[in-house]
Amino acid sequence: MSEKTAVTFAPGLEGVVATRTRLSNVDGAAGRLVIAGFPVEELAVRASFEEMLYLLWNGALPDAEELAALRRDLAAVRVVSQTTKDVLEAVAAEKVPPMDALRMASGTLGSRDGDDRDDALRLVAAFPTIVAAHRRLSQGNEPVEPRPELSHAANYLYMLSGEVPSAEQVQALETYLNTVSDHGMNASTFTARVIVSTRSDLVSAVVGAVGALKGPLHGGAPGPALDVVFEIGEASRAESYLRAKLDRGERLMGFGHRVYKVRDPRADVLASAAERLYATDADRDLYRLALEVEKAAIRLLEEYKPGRNLDTNVEFYTALLLHGLRLPPELFTPTFAVGRVAGWTAHCFEQRELDRLIRPQSEYVGAEGRAWEPVEER
Ligand code: ACO
Repeated sequence: MSEKTAVTFAPGLEGVVATRTRLSNVDGAAGRLVIAGFPVEELAVRASFEEMLYLLWNGALPDAEELAALRRDLAAVRVVSQTTKDVLEAVAAEKVPPMDALRMASGTLGSRDGDDRDDALRLVAAFPTIVAAHRRLSQGNEPVEPRPELSHAANYLYMLSGEVPSAEQVQALETYLNTVSDHGMNASTFTARVIVSTRSDLVSAVVGAVGALKGPLHGGAPGPALDVVFEIGEASRAESYLRAKLDRGERLMGFGHRVYKVRDPRADVLASAAERLYATDADRDLYRLALEVEKAAIRLLEEYKPGRNLDTNVEFYTALLLHGLRLPPELFTPTFAVGRVAGWTAHCFEQRELDRLIRPQSEYVGAEGRAWEPVEER
């Protein structure tokens, strides 16, 4: 039976509504992001990561008892299995980059009976453990075991450095993780939903999503965005440096978005968080320089790509905020995954409920009517 003809061909699926979700509302024209009913500006700075996770998974904020139970459940599976540790040791010895290590190690996280909620808990709880352990092993250090009394975000920073972080650092990281926790039908979330739509398991879905997030057009931008700020070095060089990049036809990392045609609202949330973090930091000149680079970039993008409405996206201030938390650029994308795994798993639950195979169509543009030739006659 032949397929019905697709109505319109949209190579990047732009404008295609592929699902309905209660998780987040991305209003690209107005530059608004609402997560489960809360404006991102409010949720990101007020919620703990655990509250935000509960909200995404259950559709409502937890009461004190529910929150304590979720914290306990996460703590119980934050220490990873020996199999996961073995994978991390092997890949660190082979100098595998952090996102690939996360992809490989997260494949070991499945619960024995493949229960969705157990899988989701393990994935969310173990992501920081995996990223931190791999980082330490790659630096020739022993991994640091998580502490049950520390929060999810605090544990991440603790397992990286071996030092209990300050309340300000934890709040800055939670603001970041909450800000990026969910964002409509982005490429990695779509990947996860496609996998679950085949009635596959959550670990498979999240491993696929990690692969999608790794690409420089999605989650791989903040490292290069920060490199640009460092390479520019001082505000007076911003214009000539960025102009040279655009003249070479390169893209400016941290700018432009498929959905937002105004400033990404998450950029403001993270810019304020970065400003608070850098207020007390010797590195605050870097924050000022970044503001100048941003201004020059927006001006030049309008000059080079008039009418395309290219503005700052989430990645530009991600880089600055995570740098302020002393995270190295190699960990920017894995840290994005530590936040986004909340949204991925929540979307997996929604997709499981919907239980509809995602299977779009293609338009055939290949050859027709060929006659077969045996290999010796070709
Ligand atoms: N720098 C220079 N030019 C750009 C940029 C940029 N950052 N972004 C888009 N353009 C150009 C495109 O090349 C295109 O030019 P053309 O019409 O002359 O061919 C034009 O602007 C319009 O591009 P769009 O179709 O609006 O861009 P698209 O939706 O395909 O891409 C994307 C969006 C991939 C995010 C793009 O803006 C980009 O590559 N940005 C840099 C990478 C980045 O920051 N990624 C993180 C995104 S946020 C996230 O995923 C979490």
